Amino acid sequence: MRQKKHYGATRILITALLVLTLGLISLPELQAEYGDVVINNYSDESGMRPVVFPHWFHRIRFRCKVCHADLGFKFEAGGNDIDMLKIIDGEYCGACHNGDVAWSVENCDLCHSGKTGTATQVHESTLQKLTTPAGINRVK
Ligand code: HEC
Ligand code: HEC
Ligand code: HEC
Repeated sequence: MRQKKHYGATRILITALLVLTLGLISLPELQAEYGDVVINNYSDESGMRPVVFPHWFHRIRFRCKVCHADLGFKFEAGGNDIDMLKIIDGEYCGACHNGDVAWSVENCDLCHSGKTGTATQVHESTLQKLTTPAGINRVK
């Protein structure tokens, strides 16, 4: 746990430096800072593909406060103890993915879209490179 926190702090520092330097000259580098978060505390061991959370997609639609204060998401990849019971109860992702604010939990593959074995991380690539095709239709 301490190891993780330390890593997080280091990462924020590195991020700040990157934004200040690379960000001024290179847009792709800057966009990489809004990386997808892979969440895999339980998925692999439960036989589900890891969750890929497209952070940037959400950040442009909602204020940070909505998730990080009101819904209680900690600022740490994998730092929230999320499971499906909580989601179905309307916590975490389930506050919106309820068929009302956004498509509902039946769309397993839209969240569990990572490649099996991908560790929890902030990934600095596009969603496409991380995911495997879902091959299902969305259910509202
Ligand atoms: C809105 C996004 C979302 C959808 C849709 C979703 N999940 Fe999840 N699910 C998560 C997240 C986030 C976690 C936590 C991932 C982790 O830590 O590995 C999780 C964890 C799990 C876990 C492991 C923890 C537990 O509850 O046992 C299982 C199994 C699981 N999901 C199955 C499913 C199934 C089956 C469906 C479709 C009926 C589904 N999920 C749909 C986001 C989603
Ligand atoms: C729709 C919900 C949502 C919104 C809006 C949101 N976040 Fe997040 N954020 C998350 C989730 C989910 C995670 C990953 C948590 C996990 O893995 O358990 C995360 C992780 C993070 C992290 C740690 C991972 C990393 O990228 O270093 C930081 C920092 C962060 N968010 C900052 C922000 C900021 C700043 C904003 C507003 C500009 C914001 N978030 C808006 C849901 C959100
Ligand atoms: C504050 C509300 C909110 C929360 C919390 C939230 N989402 Fe979303 N999410 C949305 C909305 C709105 C959309 C767009 C739905 C649409 O296009 O119909 C979306 C879309 C998505 C998409 C599809 C992105 C795309 O490219 O189309 C994924 C994947 C996703 N969410 C996963 C998650 C996961 C995993 C969590 C929890 C870790 C989560 N979301 C939490 C509101 C939320």
